[in-house]
Amino acid sequence: MFAASDVSALVRYTRQVVHLEDGELAVLTADGFHTFASGGRETAKEPLTVDWDAGHYDTGGYEHYLLKEISEQPESIARTLRGRLDERFHIAHLGGLNMDARETRSFRRVKIIGCGSAYYSGQIGAQLIEELARIPADAEPASEYRYRNPVIDPDTLYVAISQSGETYDTLAAVQEIKRKGGRVIGIVNAVGSAIAREVDGGIYLHAGPEVSVASTKAFTSTAIAFALLALHFGRVHDLSPSDGRRIVEGLRKLPDQIEQILKQGERIAELAKKYADHPSMMFVGRVRGYPVAREGAQKLKEISYVHAEAYPASELKHGPLALIGPDMPTVAIVPDDELLDKNLTTLGEIRARGGRVLMVGHRQPTPSWPTT
Ligand code: BG6
Repeated sequence: MFAASDVSALVRYTRQVVHLEDGELAVLTADGFHTFASGGRETAKEPLTVDWDAGHYDTGGYEHYLLKEISEQPESIARTLRGRLDERFHIAHLGGLNMDARETRSFRRVKIIGCGSAYYSGQIGAQLIEELARIPADAEPASEYRYRNPVIDPDTLYVAISQSGETYDTLAAVQEIKRKGGRVIGIVNAVGSAIAREVDGGIYLHAGPEVSVASTKAFTSTAIAFALLALHFGRVHDLSPSDGRRIVEGLRKLPDQIEQILKQGERIAELAKKYADHPSMMFVGRVRGYPVAREGAQKLKEISYVHAEAYPASELKHGPLALIGPDMPTVAIVPDDELLDKNLTTLGEIRARGGRVLMVGHRQPTPSWPTT
């Protein structure tokens, strides 16, 4: 019998876990346990079997967990998608939402909350939901949301995001929404965690444990869970079967595509070395590239202790362009989408000020691709 604040401390010894609710007490003996509600009444609790084992908690030959978890993304993404894509109706199967089609159609807005990387993935999610399902959606840091006495709207679906399922700011926000009668679903990685137990339904990421404090595979899996959610909402609204098929086919290709990016690890490390001595970096992206830029800047701060700022590419000319010069390189998120020309114009503005650009884009360069 063991007591711990997180299953990761236990899986070396057992996969049978009992979660305590707020205020609950447990008495552990060598051969059993008893749990009690705060008033002293004994409660009957069944152990849950966690699907993570001790093998998930070693570095598996990698230098550290962060590198291991970056490399795991093709498999973690495949696990998030497993059993959830339907080739016949071009829909997503998300049984954990506990919502029928009529109920799914009844929400008029979606509000997403989370902290740090979870919040940035929520910004991606809000854009996907608006684009595919045409339901107004937005994301807000849970750490702010819980303190501002928010209006809870019965026609809004609330979505809480958390890798660990234990982030207190997010949990407190969920409890506040529920106390006011709101409907909350979760996008959570840790099965049986506090947030997963609190919400009315949701999507488990199945990304495997994320030991490194900096979120990597959980971030990409959350973005993919949102693509599934947006597809699900879209197909009960107006997203056509052919658009649904395009999304399903695109999602299926992702694990292989990420594998190809990981193969460029050495080249990316060379670039990192080249830029490592700069005291500050700018990250820019337009519309769906902007939350990606924010996550990039967050990673640089959290992992490298290097100052970084993220801006919407369109806002650069409205002020921060003044900071750009040879000492301030820019990481630009430039997908090959309908905003490509706009993004290339922004890169031109940066280069005109002597700024160096590191571009994250698609493989095929266009003739006007900058050369830095
Ligand atoms: C922060 C971490 O404390 O918590 C971030 O530094 C993380 O990397 C954030 O994204 C949210 O964590 P979680 O477990 O709720 O997704």
